[in-house]
Amino acid sequence: MKNYAILLNFMVWTYLANAQPIINNVFNRNIASLNGKWHIIIDPYDNGYYDYRMQENPWGFFRNQKPANKSERIEYDFDKSETLNVPGDWNSQKPELLFYEGSIWYKRSFDYSLPKGKKLFLWFGAVNYQADVYLNGKKLGSHEGGFTPFYFEITNFVQDKDNFVVVRVNNQRKADGVPTINTDWWNYGGITRDVLLIEEDSIFIQNYHLYLNNQNPQQLRGWVQLNNNKSEEKVRIEIPELKLIIEGKTDEKGVFTFDRKINNLVRWEPLKPKLYTVYLYHGRQIMKDNMGFRTITTQGNKLFINEKPIFLKGICIHEEMPMRKSRANGYDDAKTLLGWAQELGCNFVRLAHYPHNEYMVRMADSLGLLVWSEIPVYWTIQFDNPKTYQLAEKMLTENIGRDQNRASIIIWSVGNETPVHEARIQFMKNLALKAKQLDPTRLVSAAMEVHVEPSNPFIYHVDDPLGEYLDVIACNEYVGWYDGLPDKTEKITWQTKYNKPFVFSELGACALFGHHGDSLTRWTEEYQEYFFNQQIKMLNKVSFLTGVSPWILADFRSPRRQLPGIQDFWNRKGLISDQGQRKKAFYVIQKYYKTR
Ligand code: GCU
Repeated sequence: MKNYAILLNFMVWTYLANAQPIINNVFNRNIASLNGKWHIIIDPYDNGYYDYRMQENPWGFFRNQKPANKSERIEYDFDKSETLNVPGDWNSQKPELLFYEGSIWYKRSFDYSLPKGKKLFLWFGAVNYQADVYLNGKKLGSHEGGFTPFYFEITNFVQDKDNFVVVRVNNQRKADGVPTINTDWWNYGGITRDVLLIEEDSIFIQNYHLYLNNQNPQQLRGWVQLNNNKSEEKVRIEIPELKLIIEGKTDEKGVFTFDRKINNLVRWEPLKPKLYTVYLYHGRQIMKDNMGFRTITTQGNKLFINEKPIFLKGICIHEEMPMRKSRANGYDDAKTLLGWAQELGCNFVRLAHYPHNEYMVRMADSLGLLVWSEIPVYWTIQFDNPKTYQLAEKMLTENIGRDQNRASIIIWSVGNETPVHEARIQFMKNLALKAKQLDPTRLVSAAMEVHVEPSNPFIYHVDDPLGEYLDVIACNEYVGWYDGLPDKTEKITWQTKYNKPFVFSELGACALFGHHGDSLTRWTEEYQEYFFNQQIKMLNKVSFLTGVSPWILADFRSPRRQLPGIQDFWNRKGLISDQGQRKKAFYVIQKYYKTR
């Protein structure tokens, strides 16, 4: 017990030491929404950030100033400018912004009477890609990374009336960014997720993690972390349905850890996603959360949920609503996308290639869908750049910090299809170790590379050195689309040196819905149907296969997909079209999943 407490403390501190500690479960806190119409200034030359000599003005020029007198020269006026909806990507809101990559300045005003002794935080669910945030003309700070939350404390800056928030959003792709300049998805820019004001007591519960001991499901373990390292603070956890009360005091780091025997808990699982209402108390603060509890273990290439073996019947999903041609967000979009996955017969979804919004993972909890969550360490990022590594690690920390209480998430993925070389192996090994350190209760994976010896071109080896550091090995394969024709699958044997669960994390082919022909005519529904029928025969021969997540649920936007009349900037590998129509291949996978 003592060793466990020491380990846990180390774990929590490691988590705290490296990034802005996440304020989790924000929707159940004392919040005020700043969603709605924000005034904007489209700023392709970054006029608001650089002067004409390109001298940076990190305080920003667009600070909502008004001319002091009739002679003063100010060449912008937020309040007379146009508006964009927040949350929302800008690409889908104005035709002229469809391809826009650059800066857009956002501004909105608000009043707020902050009671004495309270703290106030300005919180963003995500901004893609870089955000510089100002309040009442003062720069609060910046955040890089388009898919994780961040916040600034504004306790000492907020005024009762006429506060104004200005955010410079820049979505230009950066060679040293995460992702880098080359991706196969649309570069949606903007304040793409909720903006909230969070009011808390001076000392409050900042984050927590409650989970079952994977090796002993009668043990409920966890920690509760305050926003400061105040010891001897009373903390209480209640799960009324279990008649469970756990209480204690924080240690010198402001953390309360516990390890409690429990008996009558109904565990969360895909066909029975049992969620409990959990209450956490500190002082006057009452936090409520809906949580499921389950174990996840592996043995060889077998995967177990609650000690029962499971085959992952998955699908990959981008965070996009194809009918709207926009970023997905909110419970309705989550219900649509995950409802399609359920209709397909899935028990598993790979949320590609970046952390999706919180509504998605909470909906997965409710529907009983297992989740592969991923940071956008994608293709050819700068693996030898320490800044890029720090950024990737910060994204991983933010991803885990936000979602560690979601029972649906079983896998943290540290990347996708990255080229095998020493710098990349070190980079992703360190990310994998970091993920285990931040959350030892889940599995770590990545979509690795496959290799084929020229001397024997029909044996496909899953032996990427990265696999040494992963709990679940995975790879993408496109035999029959990028690699030969669908009948090539009949010649191929898969081998792996790893005795670990193995997932085909992508396989797919394109089809334009309603485009028909014979099964060897590319881009037809018949070709895509033939592709999957051939693939299934090959999958059934892979004895060590633990799961599969075809690429992809629905057609999605991509600047790389240009074939006129067929792609028109859409990647057509969806089993569902950009209008929500099921292609023939949808029913092939649906039938296959009924057999697994
Ligand atoms: C890759 C990649 C995806 C991409 C897909 C495709 O495997 O991981 O992001 O969209 O192939 O080419 O359609």
